[in-house]
Amino acid sequence: MNSVVIQEPGKLVIEQRALPVPAAGEVRVRVSYAGICGSDVHIYHGHNPFAKYPRVIGHEFFGHIDSVGEGVEASRIGERVVVDPVVSCGHCYPCSIGRPNVCAQLQVIGVHRDGGFSDYACAPAKNAYVVPAAIPDKLASMVEPFTIAANITAFLKPTPQDTALIYGAGPMGLTVIQVLKGVYGVQKVIVADRIDERLQMAQASGADWIINNSERSVADELAAEGVRPTLIVDAACHPAILQEAILLASPAARIGMMGFSGEPSSVTQQSITSKEISLFSSRLNSHRFPQVIEWMEQGKIAPEKLVTHWMPAGEVEAALTLFEKDQRSCCKVLLTF
Ligand code: NAI
Repeated sequence: MNSVVIQEPGKLVIEQRALPVPAAGEVRVRVSYAGICGSDVHIYHGHNPFAKYPRVIGHEFFGHIDSVGEGVEASRIGERVVVDPVVSCGHCYPCSIGRPNVCAQLQVIGVHRDGGFSDYACAPAKNAYVVPAAIPDKLASMVEPFTIAANITAFLKPTPQDTALIYGAGPMGLTVIQVLKGVYGVQKVIVADRIDERLQMAQASGADWIINNSERSVADELAAEGVRPTLIVDAACHPAILQEAILLASPAARIGMMGFSGEPSSVTQQSITSKEISLFSSRLNSHRFPQVIEWMEQGKIAPEKLVTHWMPAGEVEAALTLFEKDQRSCCKVLLTF
């Protein structure tokens, strides 16, 4: 089989490998579609602190189960599945309270262990979720990115009365916008980004008001309309955004963070406590696959609005470059295997 391997930072090779044999409790998936995420690019460039090399990247993938390991029902062979990349120990403190995504021994498929940019990939059987017929093959790998939005919104508990402000209209911001509008019915969703084309995608995903904050300040725009957001998500993840979000937020607002920057954010206790602001952080997802599959099946979210390119896996290097360098024309890229 062919696998996309990052042999060391900066060195990507399509390797011929032997078919992997599923271990006890695992399934083997014949991959047909896999999505590129920013973290794949970070592993390629050596900027992901968790990755070990060589590594088959890819943690958003869809395919058919074609083989099972010991202890897994043979009847699962043939199932159309998407794979939850979160592999957890099941008995540490976070696992015991239903938060395997921050397991003390967390293993993310495609980061800590080999992933889905490969003709075949193995995963724990319980991580492979059946995809209903209403979700087409070519969009099924989009379940994973929406689980990030499902996870952060589960903390934020949006209501229709909220005025939401989303920083960043990349794949993460767009999934959050769609979930706020399509699932929670939030009436007013404001989106700030620095790229007009991304803001147009935000509008197509349901944003009510877009602000290009390379030209205009979000603070001035909101002040002019007397708007104070009650719910803010930072899906752009620059360390300076947290401070601005706290200053713009309504008293009693909730703020969701998802960034991994190692740079400090400068915030004061006073700005948070005086308005009793709730800050939440969210990483990956905790058992959100069934929920997102249901949302997609019911048409509450529209993954096709994010996908700008489908490209053959043999062109992975060009696909990664396009994804990284051309945020105006490119949003989500799905590789075909
Ligand atoms: P992306 O780079 O495609 O999108 C980010 C968007 O933010 C871009 O459109 C960019 O123009 C915009 N932006 C940058 N600075 C801005 C600013 N100061 N104000 C407004 N907009 C700004 O990235 P993607 O894939 O959407 O991911 C966003 C972030 O989410 C990344 O930092 C990534 O590391 C993080 N992430 C976190 C996850 C988690 O589980 N916590 C999972 C996946 C991604």
